Amino acid sequence: MPAKSFNNHSPDSRTTTMFIVQLTDLHVVEPGTLGHNGTDNTKYVAHALSRVGALEPKPRAVVLTGDLADHGSVAEYAALRAMLDEIDVPAYLALGNHDNRANFLEVFGNEPYMAQRGAFVQYRVNLGDLDLLVLDTLQEGKIAGHFCDERLAWLADDLAAHRDRPTLVALHHPPIDGLSQLEFFEKGGDWYHALLDTLGTHDNIIGIMAGHTHRSASTTTQGIPLLVGPAACGYQAHMSLDWTRLDVTLAFEAPTMYLHRYADARITSHLIPASAEFSTLRPPYAEHLEKLVDSMQAPDVNLSQGVLK
Ligand SMILES: [Fe+2]
Repeated sequence: MPAKSFNNHSPDSRTTTMFIVQLTDLHVVEPGTLGHNGTDNTKYVAHALSRVGALEPKPRAVVLTGDLADHGSVAEYAALRAMLDEIDVPAYLALGNHDNRANFLEVFGNEPYMAQRGAFVQYRVNLGDLDLLVLDTLQEGKIAGHFCDERLAWLADDLAAHRDRPTLVALHHPPIDGLSQLEFFEKGGDWYHALLDTLGTHDNIIGIMAGHTHRSASTTTQGIPLLVGPAACGYQAHMSLDWTRLDVTLAFEAPTMYLHRYADARITSHLIPASAEFSTLRPPYAEHLEKLVDSMQAPDVNLSQGVLK
Protein backbone atom coordinates (compact mmCIF):
# COMPACT_ATOMS: atom_id res chain seq x y z
CA MET A 1 0.00 0.00 0.00
CA PRO A 2 1.47 3.38 -0.90
CA ALA A 3 2.46 5.61 1.99
CA LYS A 4 0.14 8.48 2.77
CA SER A 5 1.41 11.73 1.27
CA PHE A 6 1.48 14.74 3.57
CA ASN A 7 2.49 17.10 0.80
CA ASN A 8 -0.85 16.93 -1.02
CA HIS A 9 -3.89 18.75 0.25
CA SER A 10 -6.84 16.36 0.40
CA PRO A 11 -10.18 16.23 2.22
CA ASP A 12 -8.95 13.51 4.58
CA SER A 13 -5.91 15.51 5.64
CA ARG A 14 -7.74 18.18 7.64
CA THR A 15 -6.03 19.23 10.83
CA THR A 16 -6.62 21.85 13.44
CA THR A 17 -5.10 25.23 12.71
CA MET A 18 -1.76 25.90 14.33
CA PHE A 19 0.53 28.92 14.22
CA ILE A 20 4.30 28.61 14.48
CA VAL A 21 6.57 31.65 14.61
CA GLN A 22 10.05 31.43 13.14
CA LEU A 23 12.76 33.83 14.25
CA THR A 24 16.24 33.38 12.91
CA ASP A 25 19.67 34.96 13.23
CA LEU A 26 18.99 36.71 16.51
CA HIS A 27 22.69 37.34 17.25
CA VAL A 28 21.86 38.18 20.86
CA VAL A 29 24.56 40.11 22.72
CA GLU A 30 24.87 40.95 26.37
CA PRO A 31 22.53 43.81 27.28
CA GLY A 32 24.27 47.16 26.91
CA THR A 33 26.69 45.92 24.26
CA LEU A 34 26.59 45.91 20.46
CA GLY A 35 26.99 43.04 18.04
CA HIS A 36 30.01 42.41 15.86
CA ASN A 37 28.43 44.60 13.14
CA GLY A 38 27.83 47.46 15.58
CA THR A 39 24.08 46.88 15.82
CA ASP A 40 21.91 46.69 18.94
CA ASN A 41 20.72 43.16 18.21
CA THR A 42 19.28 42.38 21.62
CA LYS A 43 16.97 45.40 21.52
CA TYR A 44 15.35 44.19 18.30
CA VAL A 45 15.14 40.59 19.45
CA ALA A 46 13.37 41.84 22.58
CA HIS A 47 10.90 43.71 20.35
CA ALA A 48 10.32 40.61 18.26
CA LEU A 49 9.76 38.31 21.23
CA SER A 50 7.43 40.84 22.79
CA ARG A 51 5.39 40.77 19.57
CA VAL A 52 5.41 36.95 19.61
CA GLY A 53 4.11 36.97 23.17
CA ALA A 54 1.25 39.30 22.22
CA LEU A 55 0.08 37.47 19.08
CA GLU A 56 -3.54 36.33 18.92
CA PRO A 57 -4.23 33.53 18.50
CA LYS A 58 -1.33 32.41 20.58
CA PRO A 59 1.32 30.52 18.58
CA ARG A 60 1.89 26.87 19.39
CA ALA A 61 5.65 27.46 19.29
CA VAL A 62 8.37 29.91 18.43
CA VAL A 63 11.26 28.26 16.59
CA LEU A 64 14.65 29.97 16.60
CA THR A 65 16.67 28.71 13.62
CA GLY A 66 20.19 29.51 14.72
CA ASP A 67 22.73 32.24 15.23
CA LEU A 68 21.06 32.56 18.59
CA ALA A 69 24.05 34.36 20.11
CA ASP A 70 26.49 36.69 18.39
CA HIS A 71 29.66 35.34 20.02
CA GLY A 72 28.28 32.10 21.49
CA SER A 73 28.98 33.08 25.10
CA VAL A 74 27.16 31.75 28.15
CA ALA A 75 26.19 35.33 29.04
CA GLU A 76 24.54 35.81 25.65
CA TYR A 77 22.56 32.57 25.98
CA ALA A 78 21.52 33.65 29.48
CA ALA A 79 20.28 36.97 28.03
CA LEU A 80 18.25 35.08 25.43
CA ARG A 81 16.89 32.73 28.09
CA ALA A 82 15.73 35.70 30.18
CA MET A 83 13.83 37.15 27.19
CA LEU A 84 12.21 33.80 26.35
CA ASP A 85 11.11 33.41 29.95
CA GLU A 86 9.09 36.62 29.55
CA ILE A 87 6.71 35.15 26.96
CA ASP A 88 4.15 32.40 27.34
CA VAL A 89 5.02 30.60 24.09
CA PRO A 90 7.17 27.43 24.05
CA ALA A 91 10.51 28.06 22.33
CA TYR A 92 12.57 25.48 20.41
CA LEU A 93 16.12 26.35 19.46
CA ALA A 94 18.55 25.29 16.71
CA LEU A 95 22.23 26.18 16.42
CA GLY A 96 23.91 28.34 13.76
CA ASN A 97 27.48 29.13 12.83
CA HIS A 98 27.78 31.90 15.44
CA ASP A 99 26.76 29.49 18.21
CA ASN A 100 28.83 27.45 20.62
CA ARG A 101 27.33 24.06 21.35
CA ALA A 102 28.81 23.60 24.86
CA ASN A 103 27.89 27.10 26.02
CA PHE A 104 24.40 26.73 24.58
CA LEU A 105 23.90 23.45 26.42
CA GLU A 106 25.09 25.01 29.66
CA VAL A 107 22.06 27.32 29.55
CA PHE A 108 19.46 25.31 27.58
CA GLY A 109 20.64 21.71 27.99
CA ASN A 110 18.11 20.82 30.70
CA GLU A 111 15.05 21.75 28.66
CA PRO A 112 12.66 18.75 28.56
CA TYR A 113 12.78 18.54 24.76
CA MET A 114 16.55 18.00 24.96
CA ALA A 115 16.13 14.74 26.86
CA GLN A 116 15.97 12.61 23.70
CA ARG A 117 18.81 14.27 21.83
CA GLY A 118 22.08 12.55 20.99
CA ALA A 119 25.55 14.11 20.95
CA PHE A 120 24.28 17.00 18.85
CA VAL A 121 21.40 19.45 19.27
CA GLN A 122 18.91 17.38 17.30
CA TYR A 123 15.46 16.53 18.63
CA ARG A 124 11.82 15.94 17.71
CA VAL A 125 8.88 17.67 19.42
CA ASN A 126 5.21 16.67 19.12
CA LEU A 127 3.22 19.87 18.58
CA GLY A 128 -0.12 18.11 18.13
CA ASP A 129 -1.06 17.48 14.50
CA LEU A 130 2.51 18.28 13.50
CA ASP A 131 6.02 17.39 14.67
CA LEU A 132 8.94 19.78 14.75
CA LEU A 133 12.30 18.19 13.91
CA VAL A 134 15.34 20.30 14.81
CA LEU A 135 18.66 19.47 13.13
CA ASP A 136 22.18 20.62 14.03
CA THR A 137 24.28 21.95 11.11
CA LEU A 138 26.91 23.71 13.22
CA GLN A 139 30.57 23.15 12.39
CA GLU A 140 32.25 25.23 15.07
CA GLY A 141 34.60 27.88 13.80
CA LYS A 142 33.28 27.68 10.24
CA ILE A 143 30.67 29.72 8.39
CA ALA A 144 29.50 26.79 6.28
CA GLY A 145 27.16 24.12 7.52
CA HIS A 146 28.04 20.51 8.17
CA PHE A 147 26.12 17.27 8.65
CA CYS A 148 28.35 14.38 9.70
CA ASP A 149 27.66 10.65 9.53
CA GLU A 150 26.62 10.56 13.20
CA ARG A 151 24.00 13.26 12.68
CA LEU A 152 22.86 11.59 9.48
CA ALA A 153 22.43 8.22 11.22
CA TRP A 154 20.39 9.87 13.98
CA LEU A 155 18.19 11.51 11.34
CA ALA A 156 17.64 8.27 9.43
CA ASP A 157 16.61 6.44 12.62
CA ASP A 158 14.33 9.27 13.68
CA LEU A 159 12.56 9.49 10.32
CA ALA A 160 12.11 5.73 10.15
CA ALA A 161 10.42 5.79 13.55
CA HIS A 162 8.01 8.62 12.67
CA ARG A 163 6.79 7.89 9.14
CA ASP A 164 3.18 8.71 10.02
CA ARG A 165 3.89 12.10 11.57
CA PRO A 166 3.74 15.27 9.44
CA THR A 167 7.11 16.84 10.14
CA LEU A 168 8.41 20.38 9.84
CA VAL A 169 12.22 20.52 9.83
CA ALA A 170 14.19 23.39 11.38
CA LEU A 171 17.89 23.99 10.76
CA HIS A 172 20.19 26.97 10.30
CA HIS A 173 21.98 26.51 6.99
CA PRO A 174 19.73 26.31 3.92
CA PRO A 175 20.49 22.96 2.25
CA ILE A 176 20.80 24.28 -1.30
CA ASP A 177 23.26 26.19 -3.49
CA GLY A 178 22.68 29.52 -5.21
CA LEU A 179 20.84 31.24 -2.41
CA SER A 180 23.35 33.63 -0.93
CA GLN A 181 26.67 35.32 -1.54
CA LEU A 182 27.73 33.82 1.77
CA GLU A 183 28.79 30.94 -0.45
CA PHE A 184 31.82 33.01 -1.47
CA PHE A 185 33.03 32.58 2.11
CA GLU A 186 32.10 28.94 2.45
CA LYS A 187 33.94 25.84 1.35
CA GLY A 188 32.56 22.36 1.15
CA GLY A 189 29.14 23.17 -0.33
CA ASP A 190 28.35 19.48 -0.70
CA TRP A 191 27.72 19.11 3.03
CA TYR A 192 23.95 18.82 2.65
CA HIS A 193 23.48 16.31 -0.17
CA ALA A 194 23.20 13.24 2.08
CA LEU A 195 20.90 15.17 4.39
CA LEU A 196 18.60 16.07 1.51
CA ASP A 197 18.71 12.57 0.09
CA THR A 198 17.59 11.23 3.47
CA LEU A 199 14.77 13.75 3.83
CA GLY A 200 13.75 13.12 0.23
CA THR A 201 13.05 9.44 0.85
CA HIS A 202 10.20 10.39 3.19
CA ASP A 203 6.94 11.96 2.11
CA ASN A 204 5.91 13.29 5.50
CA ILE A 205 8.28 16.28 5.44
CA ILE A 206 5.99 19.28 4.93
CA GLY A 207 8.65 21.97 4.97
CA ILE A 208 12.14 23.05 5.95
CA MET A 209 12.73 26.26 7.93
CA ALA A 210 16.19 27.82 7.71
CA GLY A 211 18.05 31.10 8.18
CA HIS A 212 21.72 32.05 7.83
CA THR A 213 21.47 34.33 4.76
CA HIS A 214 19.96 37.39 6.52
CA ARG A 215 17.56 37.67 3.61
CA SER A 216 14.21 35.93 3.27
CA ALA A 217 13.66 33.57 0.37
CA SER A 218 11.49 30.61 -0.48
CA THR A 219 11.98 27.76 -2.92
CA THR A 220 11.68 23.99 -3.02
CA THR A 221 14.21 21.21 -2.81
CA GLN A 222 13.46 17.51 -3.21
CA GLY A 223 9.88 18.72 -3.67
CA ILE A 224 9.88 20.09 -0.12
CA PRO A 225 9.16 23.80 0.55
CA LEU A 226 12.24 25.59 1.86
CA LEU A 227 11.51 28.75 3.86
CA VAL A 228 14.47 30.96 4.66
CA GLY A 229 13.67 33.60 7.25
CA PRO A 230 14.94 37.19 7.55
CA ALA A 231 17.26 38.07 10.42
CA ALA A 232 15.48 39.02 13.62
CA CYS A 233 18.41 41.21 14.68
CA GLY A 234 17.49 43.64 11.89
CA TYR A 235 20.53 43.76 9.67
CA GLN A 236 19.92 42.12 6.33
CA ALA A 237 22.17 41.34 3.41
CA HIS A 238 21.67 43.56 0.40
CA MET A 239 22.79 41.83 -2.73
CA SER A 240 22.66 42.07 -6.46
CA LEU A 241 21.42 38.48 -6.84
CA ASP A 242 24.28 38.10 -9.31
CA TRP A 243 26.21 35.07 -8.10
CA THR A 244 29.17 35.61 -10.43
CA ARG A 245 30.81 38.29 -8.30
CA LEU A 246 31.01 39.18 -4.64
CA ASP A 247 28.64 42.09 -4.12
CA VAL A 248 27.11 42.16 -0.68
CA THR A 249 26.57 44.86 1.90
CA LEU A 250 24.66 44.82 5.14
CA ALA A 251 21.78 47.20 5.67
CA PHE A 252 19.44 47.79 8.54
CA GLU A 253 15.79 47.09 7.73
CA ALA A 254 12.63 46.90 9.80
CA PRO A 255 12.92 43.46 11.46
CA THR A 256 10.43 40.88 10.25
CA MET A 257 9.66 37.27 11.10
CA TYR A 258 7.79 34.34 9.64
CA LEU A 259 4.36 33.37 10.93
CA HIS A 260 3.68 29.87 9.60
CA ARG A 261 0.04 28.76 9.59
CA TYR A 262 -0.45 24.99 9.51
CA ALA A 263 -3.92 23.80 8.56
CA ASP A 264 -5.29 20.95 6.45
CA ALA A 265 -1.81 19.45 5.98
CA ARG A 266 -0.58 22.65 4.38
CA ILE A 267 1.83 25.25 5.67
CA THR A 268 1.27 28.86 4.61
CA SER A 269 3.97 31.34 5.57
CA HIS A 270 3.53 35.05 6.21
CA LEU A 271 6.24 37.62 6.76
CA ILE A 272 5.10 39.98 9.51
CA PRO A 273 6.75 42.88 11.34
CA ALA A 274 8.82 41.79 14.31
CA SER A 275 8.16 44.98 16.24
CA ALA A 276 4.94 46.56 17.51
CA GLU A 277 6.38 49.79 16.14
CA PHE A 278 5.46 48.61 12.64
CA SER A 279 2.18 46.83 13.39
CA THR A 280 -0.26 49.61 14.21
CA LEU A 281 -2.84 50.44 11.61
CA ARG A 282 -3.08 54.19 11.14
CA PRO A 283 -6.47 55.67 12.04
CA PRO A 284 -7.56 56.65 8.50
CA TYR A 285 -7.36 53.00 7.45
CA ALA A 286 -9.24 51.84 10.54
CA GLU A 287 -12.04 54.28 9.77
CA HIS A 288 -12.10 53.12 6.16
CA LEU A 289 -12.42 49.49 7.29
CA GLU A 290 -15.21 50.34 9.71
CA LYS A 291 -17.17 51.97 6.86
CA LEU A 292 -16.49 48.92 4.71
CA VAL A 293 -17.79 46.57 7.41
CA ASP A 294 -20.86 48.78 7.86
CA SER A 295 -21.53 48.60 4.13
CA MET A 296 -21.35 44.81 4.31
CA GLN A 297 -24.21 44.83 6.84
CA ALA A 298 -22.48 42.01 8.67
CA PRO A 299 -23.42 42.38 12.35
CA ASP A 300 -21.11 39.56 13.45
CA VAL A 301 -17.98 41.50 12.44
CA ASN A 302 -16.55 43.44 15.34
CA LEU A 303 -13.44 45.44 14.53
CA SER A 304 -13.15 46.77 18.05
CA GLN A 305 -11.92 43.35 19.21
CA GLY A 306 -8.98 43.39 16.84
CA VAL A 307 -5.86 45.49 16.42
CA LEU A 308 -7.62 48.11 14.35
CA LYS A 309 -8.41 50.51 17.17
FE1 LIG B 1 23.41 35.18 11.15
